[in-house]
Amino acid sequence: MIEAKDGKQNENSNQTLTTRQGHPVTNNQNQRTVGSRGPATLENYHFLEKISHFDRERIPERVVHARGAGAHGVFKAYGKVGDESISQYTRAKLFQSKGKETPVFVRFSTVIHSGHSPETLRDPRGFAVKFYTEDGNWDLVGNNLKVFFIRDAIKFPDVIHSLRPDPVTNRQDGGRIFDFMSNTPESVHMLTFLFSPWGIPANYRQMQGSGVNTYKWVNDKGEGTLIKYHWEPIQGVRNLTQPEAEAIQGKNFNHATEDLYDAIERGDFPQWELRVQMMTDGEHPELDFDPLDDTKIWPEDQFPMMAVGLMTLNRNPENYFAEVEQAAFGTGVLVDGLDFSDDKMLVGRTFSYSDTQRYRVGPNYLQLPINSPRASVATNQRDGQMTYRVDTVPGQNPHVNYEPSSMNGPAEAPRDLPDHSPHIEGRLQRASIERTNNFKQVGEQYRAFEDRERDDLINNLVANISAATEEVQARMVELFTQCDADYGRRVDEGLKAVRENRKKTEGKREVQMA
Ligand code: HEM
Repeated sequence: MIEAKDGKQNENSNQTLTTRQGHPVTNNQNQRTVGSRGPATLENYHFLEKISHFDRERIPERVVHARGAGAHGVFKAYGKVGDESISQYTRAKLFQSKGKETPVFVRFSTVIHSGHSPETLRDPRGFAVKFYTEDGNWDLVGNNLKVFFIRDAIKFPDVIHSLRPDPVTNRQDGGRIFDFMSNTPESVHMLTFLFSPWGIPANYRQMQGSGVNTYKWVNDKGEGTLIKYHWEPIQGVRNLTQPEAEAIQGKNFNHATEDLYDAIERGDFPQWELRVQMMTDGEHPELDFDPLDDTKIWPEDQFPMMAVGLMTLNRNPENYFAEVEQAAFGTGVLVDGLDFSDDKMLVGRTFSYSDTQRYRVGPNYLQLPINSPRASVATNQRDGQMTYRVDTVPGQNPHVNYEPSSMNGPAEAPRDLPDHSPHIEGRLQRASIERTNNFKQVGEQYRAFEDRERDDLINNLVANISAATEEVQARMVELFTQCDADYGRRVDEGLKAVRENRKKTEGKREVQMA
């Protein structure tokens, strides 16, 4: 029982408050001062520790996907892919036997705005899964939508800058967004999803996930198969129209975090089935799109969805900062049996994630419990800020932090199965892929939407594109027209109506995207 300075008993506590040095805190209400009115003295160790730690509480937020929520769970393999044996395609151990369980941690997010922005914004949603497998970690870092704005990683800073607030006014601006997009025709597929109701999932539990980029599976012979990953929510999919989202946002800007946390607390555990689409490795000249182009969907009638397992989220984090904020996912984090394709986005992403995490969290981010593999870790990497432990296994010689060594240091473990080693030949150059085909799938999607989805899409696009110059508006209409004549016509009519209206009222209208 602690006697407080003012004489009141702290009756509800059986814990002594201490400093981080383990010293009991005798007075947490008053600094040490000369007399009761000050001045303060500088040897107040407890006060200085408390304030200076507080001064360092924040780390840089993620440069994208800053706003997120996370949960722990388990992935249970079906032991096959669709009705076929999975081992003929991948030797990844986590998929092989029916019922095999792998612990996971998932972080959902919005992309563009900062850490406490509303969760009702029109924005892609992140869907990042860390599988703690027996062979080390596998991260599947995806989004809710199946396509992306661009197909070459070199354009990522540009697309994100256009979507982020204006560097002068600090406001998101449709004029800047569509200035960039109208000069980036490959973005029109993503825009068509983003400005439809699919651009505002109702919450994190009722949304799909997709790896978006093309990966590979590798079997025992070292043969590769091209793979797209998808998460299908067992809860079903639910999206919001703009007015529905605004009604929620008026009352609550944490609704998706709340929904996920509350569902797990009450034992209503959300589940997603992991499905893959497969394509034989190769360029596939018979297709009208490039299989490595992330602005395209692989048509399901040709490349059916095949289920491989079920993920259940069943435990909330105990501490948001330690587990969710410090979680670090990356596309380079693969296990044996899973591989990269040459998708030009994927290669760029793979550099970017661990690079940013060494800056955002620190060089030893992989020693934090949330990021650390459950498999044993024995590296020769040492020291650096916030070293938490030494990466050795029991019995290992702690003097040896180099390799090779004959004094019981960690040794290589050559694989007895062949690596996947594709033969690549070509001229080194800077060039776009040949089969860009930016518009065909977009037109098909436009026609496939239900009427209410199409109406919502047109309204949202008009509301946002009308913030752009007439030249940019005309370029956007031209892009939509190439996808589908009706699509272009309706956006054009909507924009003309806004301009007419503006002229009439002579008012200056500024429209924000979200
Ligand atoms: C987060 C870069 C494309 C999904 C991030 C972060 C960076 C980044 C730097 C912050 C990571 C951190 O601080 O831990 C890039 C680059 C891309 C790209 C350079 C393109 C070349 C994509 C695509 C997707 C995606 C196409 C969807 C498939 C995510 C997700 C997160 C994220 C879900 C949040 C992960 C988390 O919850 O911690 N990205 N990204 N990114 N990115 Fe990307």
